[in-house]
Amino acid sequence: MILVVGGGGYIGSHMCKLLREAGEKHLVFDNLENGHKEALQGSPFVQGDLRNPADLAQVFAKNEIDVVMHFAAYISVGESVREPGKYYDNNFSGVLNLLEAMRRSGVDKFIFSSTAAIFGEPAYVPIDEEHPKNPKSAYGDSKYGVERALDSYEIAHGLRSVCLRYFNAAGADPDGVLGEDHDPETHLIPLAIDAALSRRPPLQLFGTDYPTPDGTCLRDYVHVDDLSRAHIAVFDRLAKPGTRLFYNLGTGRPSSNREVIRAVEKISGKKVPLVEAPRRAGDPPVLYADSSLAQRELNWQARYGDIESIVATAWKWHSTHPNGYADRNR
Ligand code: UFG
Repeated sequence: MILVVGGGGYIGSHMCKLLREAGEKHLVFDNLENGHKEALQGSPFVQGDLRNPADLAQVFAKNEIDVVMHFAAYISVGESVREPGKYYDNNFSGVLNLLEAMRRSGVDKFIFSSTAAIFGEPAYVPIDEEHPKNPKSAYGDSKYGVERALDSYEIAHGLRSVCLRYFNAAGADPDGVLGEDHDPETHLIPLAIDAALSRRPPLQLFGTDYPTPDGTCLRDYVHVDDLSRAHIAVFDRLAKPGTRLFYNLGTGRPSSNREVIRAVEKISGKKVPLVEAPRRAGDPPVLYADSSLAQRELNWQARYGDIESIVATAWKWHSTHPNGYADRNR
């Protein structure tokens, strides 16, 4: 059985949908702080918190778990700069609790959701797996800390792991059942859609004087279903003892903030009201992935290769779920 830690959240819930469709036996472990019951859509679920070792001990004692996938992280880079303790506690110490629970139960396969934030300011683009790691936030550092801890766990305990480094996770379930529902929302695509729908004040466009073709930042948006598919693609790799792998996951085709806004306008048929604002601290001008290793070794490639197709799925979700999931109190 696969334990999906954080299966009620944005990426975890899309992962579970794929697991249901593939007939893979799985169990969600989520504290529902940011996850949603409604997003579980029938996946078996146990409520618990990574920061509580007793919750983990119980879930491992009661279930025959073979593989663990981890999605239960705080994700706001800006917040992590203001409140580093919150991020190290959950995103790092919480994962150590999980690794210890796995070790005690003899579970030796782990798929970890890592991030492009471990690289910090890019020394070159596209960013491959060997790019220097220089995280600039507690968010990135907490994720990189886990990547390094996994080395020690492999050496000491034979824990096999794959770290999947997501670039800008985006989009939603094409069936329109699942989507992105963060509170507060900080990501460009959902904010631009909400601004187009007049659900929020005009979008603040952070920085128009970057050394890029249109003066705005370039990012590599990768569809949440493509990220989920990569988790399935690494299963075979985990069959081998000594596995310790890393893959950068993106489309390799970056979009500027203005291109994203244009895509939202085209898909929605509405204007995105915006105000030009100063740069947001810590935003690198250009960030995109070299995913050729994942292509070669996993036969993985993003199916959603262009920003409009990604935005179209996000639009479907946001325009039909004006308040996100029904279980959130607003
Ligand atoms: N942006 C705006 N206005 C907004 C929100 C965002 O202009 O209201 C801009 C940002 O300044 C940035 C771009 O849109 O240039 C993308 O910003 P997001 O907040 O959507 O995404 P980030 O690139 O900051 O962050 C993403 C992931 C993080 C991950 C990071 C890796 O969300 O989890 O990539 O650097 F850490």
